[in-house]
Amino acid sequence: MDIITLHEQYKVLDGKSLTIEGWVRNHRAQKTFGFLDVSDGTHFRGVQVVYDEGRAENDKETQKIRIGSSVRIHGTLTLTPTMKQPYEIKADRIELVGDSPEDYPIQPKRHSREFLREHAHLRTRTNLFTALNRVRNVLTRAVHDFFQSRNFIHVASPIITGIDAEGAGELFKVTTLDLTNVPTTKEGNVDFTRDFFGKATNLTVTGQLEAEIFAQAYKKAYTFGPTFRAEKSNTTTHASEFWMIEPEFAFADLSDNMALAEAMVKHLISAVREGAPEEMAFFDRFVEKGLLKKLDSVLDKTFHRISHREAIEVLMQADTVFENKPTHGGDLATEHEKYLVNHFGGPVFVTDWPKDAKAFYMRLNDDGETVAAMDLLVPGAGEIIGGSQREERLDVLRERMAEMGIEEASMWWYLDLRKYGTTPHAGFGLGFDRMLMYVTGVANIRDVIPFPRTPRHCDF
Ligand code: 4AD
Ligand code: MG
Repeated sequence: MDIITLHEQYKVLDGKSLTIEGWVRNHRAQKTFGFLDVSDGTHFRGVQVVYDEGRAENDKETQKIRIGSSVRIHGTLTLTPTMKQPYEIKADRIELVGDSPEDYPIQPKRHSREFLREHAHLRTRTNLFTALNRVRNVLTRAVHDFFQSRNFIHVASPIITGIDAEGAGELFKVTTLDLTNVPTTKEGNVDFTRDFFGKATNLTVTGQLEAEIFAQAYKKAYTFGPTFRAEKSNTTTHASEFWMIEPEFAFADLSDNMALAEAMVKHLISAVREGAPEEMAFFDRFVEKGLLKKLDSVLDKTFHRISHREAIEVLMQADTVFENKPTHGGDLATEHEKYLVNHFGGPVFVTDWPKDAKAFYMRLNDDGETVAAMDLLVPGAGEIIGGSQREERLDVLRERMAEMGIEEASMWWYLDLRKYGTTPHAGFGLGFDRMLMYVTGVANIRDVIPFPRTPRHCDF
């Protein structure tokens, strides 16, 4: 029987015999009896198993059961209304399924996050990572629920692509060329016509452009998948492989886009509050004090919306001395993001960015200087969303591409979408892992991603 079933039905199971299977998280053996904390992973909390002399038929062996072992317990559920836990299992027989020697790395004590990262194959058995992975799962489902209930159609955008849609050049190349004998052209460049796809390819940095294809046929679409960036930034919010949710919808502008993003963030917060109450209480208690209050306060207020120009003004008037000087034409540094979310006391949309700081597909504003972009900044995780209204005017788009040195030949199909029945449309990308950081208070992206990939790290 799964432990979640026990937790849900323990009252009617009082006095009943049952069998559970799981792993021993802790073992307190006394002289003639003992307690095992057993977790089977089907619920955040495990179950306490008691054995005593004469009752558990093999208790000599039981005394020796070690932490980390897998066990099968045959016993009787007993209500314990006077104790901390509402019931326990009195063991009749305990089978050791798989022993775990003394050197089991995950002992019931505090381990450092760094140590646990090096044991990502076993950190899944700790409370913190059980809570994280369970919240991640609730969040995944909530993402689909949110978009499905609004008639967005899911599209699995390709992982291998020939384009650099963000234009940042942070690409992982995909090739089957023999790296010890790379074919070259007459000019001495790599001859990708001899490569697997007959051209240079890479792992995708975004599914947006394919989502746009879907939006131009089905009005509302979204992707939810892995994206890859060969950024050499070693920060607590950057991973080389991360998941993104990218909705894209036709007949929509920047303000529709922000309304959708805000509704989604609130939906996701409500979903984890309702769907993982024990896990969230754990984060509030052990990871970020005041987390639940912070999240709940977000639910009933409208997010601040300020233009990039106004944001820079706020920063220029700040008492703080920034390492990076805020400038009107420039990007926002992490320290600026931090200042802004503190200043406004919660999530902030920064809109209308200088065009040079952003990608080619963003719609040019009438001032000719800024684009109809929006970033959502939140405490802790920083920028969790980046999005924009898209440039739907063929001539303006071609001009922007020329300015940024993007070849039309490689983007012919993207231009076709403007040629044949273009629409004002918009979309954004939510960094799923950063969202998980935000709702759990866990400060390093290496801990919210089960098997993180960062520069020089690709284990498990
Ligand atoms: O702002 P970005 O680069 O936007 C896009 O890729 C657009 N195509 C999205 C769209 O409009 N459809 O990335 C979107 C989000 C960021 O706000 C951030 O949350 C996350 O993706 N992100 C990362 N998360 C973890 N590690 C990284 N290296 C990330 N880079 C971006
Ligand atoms: Mg961005």
